[in-house]
Amino acid sequence: MNLKPYATLIQAAKEAQKMAYCPYSRYPVGAAVLTQSGKIFAGCNIESLTLISHVCAERAAIYNAFSHGERGIRIVCTISRNSLPCGTCRQMIEEFGSPKTRVLSLLSHPPSGKLKIVKTTIAKLLPHSHTAKQLKKPRL
Ligand code: THU
Repeated sequence: MNLKPYATLIQAAKEAQKMAYCPYSRYPVGAAVLTQSGKIFAGCNIESLTLISHVCAERAAIYNAFSHGERGIRIVCTISRNSLPCGTCRQMIEEFGSPKTRVLSLLSHPPSGKLKIVKTTIAKLLPHSHTAKQLKKPRL
């Protein structure tokens, strides 16, 4: 897979992973998003003592982008030991991006042991997602 077009995005996700605050899971995740306007924003996972109030790296990156006035996510890049975006993040990626939003996940330590790269779309990761369309019909 030619990763050259994604080099800057991957680097941003790698740098963000170093900032992960994950004393409870010890599972650092970094994410970077490319917005519709062509800018890159990054985020890392941040955990809390409550154990339920954490934010995943993907959502941190999306919040970062939207906090800077960006609207719309074209690509999400993640880096972790062995995971793709979780269910909650998939919903957020679809909602703040579009079904076509691309997801590029770098898994540094998958079960196979060697670096694994998964390139897909959010529509494939989250079929039948909950979208604004569903809210158009008034509920009883
Ligand atoms: N985590 C992410 O940041 N993104 C994901 O998509 C999967 C999980 C974080 C949450 C928690 O801080 C740690 O990884 C272990 O679940």
